[in-house]
Amino acid sequence: MSESTQAQDRTFPPPEQLAAGANVGPDVYAEADRDRLAFWEQAARRLSWEREWDQALDWSKPPFAKWFVGGRLNVAYNCVDRHVEAGHGDQVAYHWEGEPGDQRTITYAQLKDEVCRAANALLELGVQVGDRVAIYLPMLPETVIAMLACARIGAVHMVVFGGFSADALASRLDDAGAVLVITADGGYRRGAPSALKPAVDDAVSRSGNVRNVVVVKRTEQDVEWTEGRDLWWDDVVGRQSTEHTAEAFDAEHPLYIMYTSGTTAKPKGILHTSGGYLTQVAYTHWAVFDLKPDTDVFWTAADVGWVTGHSYIVYGPLANRATSVMYEGTPETPHRGRWWDIVDRYGVTILYTAPTVIRTFMKWGEDVPAKADLSSLRVLGSVGEPINPEAWLWYHEHIGHGRCPIVDTWWQTETGAHMITPLPGVSTLVPGSAQTPFPGISAKVVDDEGNELADDSTGLLVLTEPWPSMLRTIWGDDDRYVDTYWSRFGPSTYFAGDGAKKDADGNIWLLGRVDDVMNVSGHRISTTEVESSLVAHPTVAEAAVVGASDPTTGQGIVAFVILRGDAAEKYGAEGAGGELVQTLRNHVARDIGPIAKPRQIMVVQELPKTRSGKIMRRLLRDVAENRELGDVTTLTDSSVMSLIKDKLPSSPSED
Ligand code: WTA
Repeated sequence: MSESTQAQDRTFPPPEQLAAGANVGPDVYAEADRDRLAFWEQAARRLSWEREWDQALDWSKPPFAKWFVGGRLNVAYNCVDRHVEAGHGDQVAYHWEGEPGDQRTITYAQLKDEVCRAANALLELGVQVGDRVAIYLPMLPETVIAMLACARIGAVHMVVFGGFSADALASRLDDAGAVLVITADGGYRRGAPSALKPAVDDAVSRSGNVRNVVVVKRTEQDVEWTEGRDLWWDDVVGRQSTEHTAEAFDAEHPLYIMYTSGTTAKPKGILHTSGGYLTQVAYTHWAVFDLKPDTDVFWTAADVGWVTGHSYIVYGPLANRATSVMYEGTPETPHRGRWWDIVDRYGVTILYTAPTVIRTFMKWGEDVPAKADLSSLRVLGSVGEPINPEAWLWYHEHIGHGRCPIVDTWWQTETGAHMITPLPGVSTLVPGSAQTPFPGISAKVVDDEGNELADDSTGLLVLTEPWPSMLRTIWGDDDRYVDTYWSRFGPSTYFAGDGAKKDADGNIWLLGRVDDVMNVSGHRISTTEVESSLVAHPTVAEAAVVGASDPTTGQGIVAFVILRGDAAEKYGAEGAGGELVQTLRNHVARDIGPIAKPRQIMVVQELPKTRSGKIMRRLLRDVAENRELGDVTTLTDSSVMSLIKDKLPSSPSED
């Protein structure tokens, strides 16, 4: 039996103490089943509403949903002011740490003052209710302050990830019709300042609507300055009053647009609104992480420019009065133990990150985290892609020391909040599976015709009931919204685009995007499955698998692997002239079956990844099929691709 099969056979019941004191117990599922809408209404009552809703859900025109119809609230008031009014002004909202090691502590009272100042500044600059404000910033406290200031005055923010190019920024500014950009001179990455303002200057020069650019000073780099248009944050925000009365907005008032890097050229602006979104991010954050606001220190180690940052660095934690950690930089700066020092320093109790990072830590070796005191941790989370059982077990053992449940949370930019996940005080965990729909969520695995499949079969994941934090549309393109998500199985079934398997116990296993499912000689093989098998081999740290077109089999499996440190030393960076490659091919064939034996395996140093940590399989497919590379602008490091191309063997290692 392979290591990965063994891993899948292990299960982990909730720690007794955690279960005894958990925010939600096992009854929550039955309660939500009894009356789904009443369940979400109860979750909405955890927030403060200026006016309660008349109707929980209006689904009379699917797929266009309205939640908490007639209700009015202010999202920023819910995230900040109400905690200060309740006497928690001195509680830390964020322990912020810059990559060079500088630290800032921001209490809820300070956050309130800063958000009010920024809101007043936006008003002075003529930003009106419903206007779009672009935020192109590194991970700074000002990023959160800017988001909340927009929410406070009813402007719609669109955070564009700081790693995106001027082109990507320009197309987003244009698509949304942004009137203002908030940026910085630069930010720190990998020990060096990297400039942001030049990309903004370039993008804004091509975009007609932007009137002002507000610049946060971070790196003190020289910046070009356009008089009349550009303003320093410190000047324009610094001179404002800390008094601002938040006005309530309709529950369906737009809160933000988040662009997803799709496979087509035009980005999709996913639109989220106020009441339903805040209800579900707050409730899931509280239930899934078992968040205790008085004692926990919560850390989502992700970028705020990703939906995970919006929902679980900003809105969920703040709505729940959490104390959070926010870290600006990369995990290996100045050394590979940086994260564990942070956990140690702030006493982090809940850590939420992505499998790709966990596999990187595996590659660096367990002696790195072993040097730090991680005893404060009590719950761990994973998001972004399926977590291989090996990575799950490593995370559980070397970070959680066998003590901490891992919540593997499946969700999307489009869903806004967690949808399929175990609950730490309730679920017996199955490594590698996201397990069960969150209470009040209805997820099914169906065949190509939309028929629900029996347990122990593989198909497509769909969501069959609307949920509070669902996207409301694609900005400016209702037709594309309907086409992309609601046309395949009719207007009230959401097609998630993910393959999924339900096992005999009813646990849901996510198999990656449907376009990542390979078809080899008529057999459906998930890229994830082959990757998991490769990563289970002791020499492999990370693997990416693509299906390359093949004249005989339809698709052939091509794998890119990064070796673990000791294996790289033993076999050399190229895998000892093919000997290791053969071993790995045979290993997969043994593990999954001969049909899954990779046609070709390339040993590489790096894999091309987006800023949200997703492997860009599209580019690897281009390499595997010997094509010109497609768009590389969303990569963290576009030089990775030339490194991989340079190392291409002249002929694939066939049997
Ligand atoms: C994948 C990130 C397996 C999935 C919040 C989904 C996952 C896409 C998981 C959304 C998980 C996310 N297990 N797959 N726990 N979480 N995914 O929009 O393919 O950046 O459709 O949102 O990531 O990615 P997005």
